[in-house]
Amino acid sequence: MSNKTTAIACSNIALIKYWGNFDARLRMPLNDSLSMNLDALTTQTTVEFEDALEQDVVVVNDAAADEKTWNRVREHLDRLRALAKISTHARVHSRNNFPSATGLASSASAFAALTLAGARAAGLALEERALSIVARQGSGSAARSIPSGFVEWLAATNVTSTSDQSYARQLMPPDAWDLRDVIAIVSRDAKKVGSSEGHALVNTSPFLGERISRLPTRYHRVRRELLNKNLKGMGTEIEAEAIELHLLAMTSRPPIFYWAPATVRVMDAVRQWREEGLQAYYTLDAGPNVHVLVEAKDADEVASRLRTFADVQDVIVSGAGGGARVNDAHLF
Ligand code: DP6
Repeated sequence: MSNKTTAIACSNIALIKYWGNFDARLRMPLNDSLSMNLDALTTQTTVEFEDALEQDVVVVNDAAADEKTWNRVREHLDRLRALAKISTHARVHSRNNFPSATGLASSASAFAALTLAGARAAGLALEERALSIVARQGSGSAARSIPSGFVEWLAATNVTSTSDQSYARQLMPPDAWDLRDVIAIVSRDAKKVGSSEGHALVNTSPFLGERISRLPTRYHRVRRELLNKNLKGMGTEIEAEAIELHLLAMTSRPPIFYWAPATVRVMDAVRQWREEGLQAYYTLDAGPNVHVLVEAKDADEVASRLRTFADVQDVIVSGAGGGARVNDAHLF
């Protein structure tokens, strides 16, 4: 009954961050977030449901998935099986187009590609919104990798809100603005504390209430300047937002420190370059690598400056990417 299906999805970098859930099981976030899909960082995933399988088979970058990953994928397949009213096990092969040792391994691109490929393979015809809702439950940030380009994820935080109201939608297509993310890889180590664990601890930070009360003002400002394609207008808010995510992590109990010494060196340098007239602004995910946002005309200059740092191991430049899509390049 199953159609073997392959899907490809981009990772994304958040300008306004998702950090903390009010419903952890359904991954319904505490706040709205904004992001840009990254066309240089993609995951390709092939799914087929096969009657002969006794359990799900999951292969990531040509190796059998570890137990934690296998379990998370199986749970996600269970969501799709429940929707499709089937019980068949699936074969899943997934591959990232970027070196796995960059510390950029992304659950966003992985769960977005798995959702689209898995839904089609199970015979489900889900619209973009429904795909985003399902992807969200696998990994929150994956909700934002379903639509194309610059994206907003609506949190739906009223007491009466339901899971169906928390999904991501396009704000602007990828070609609307030639913004570049110049990523400085300062560590290739897998992070010690995953984002899921970080989300679960956010309530222990005494600063969470302050963040949540101030965030709507920042969100609307960044959203407006993004639509205006005004990097200068949103840049310092984006930096403040990234620092705030890490402030929450560092003040959780137990505290989580994602920064490496080189993280701070790059952040300092970006601020210095700006004083010299280069429009560059940084942001960070739950890890030590630094994402430097620039207009396309400045991307080469910033990339070559970052390459001169002794502790920057690699630099990846990405433009805005498309949404999750199906293709024919099956992995098995
Ligand atoms: C810091 O989506 O990785 O990158 O829902 O547990 O899979 P899970 O978390 P995840 O969290 C991403 C956190 C972030 C900010 C962001 O992308 O908005």
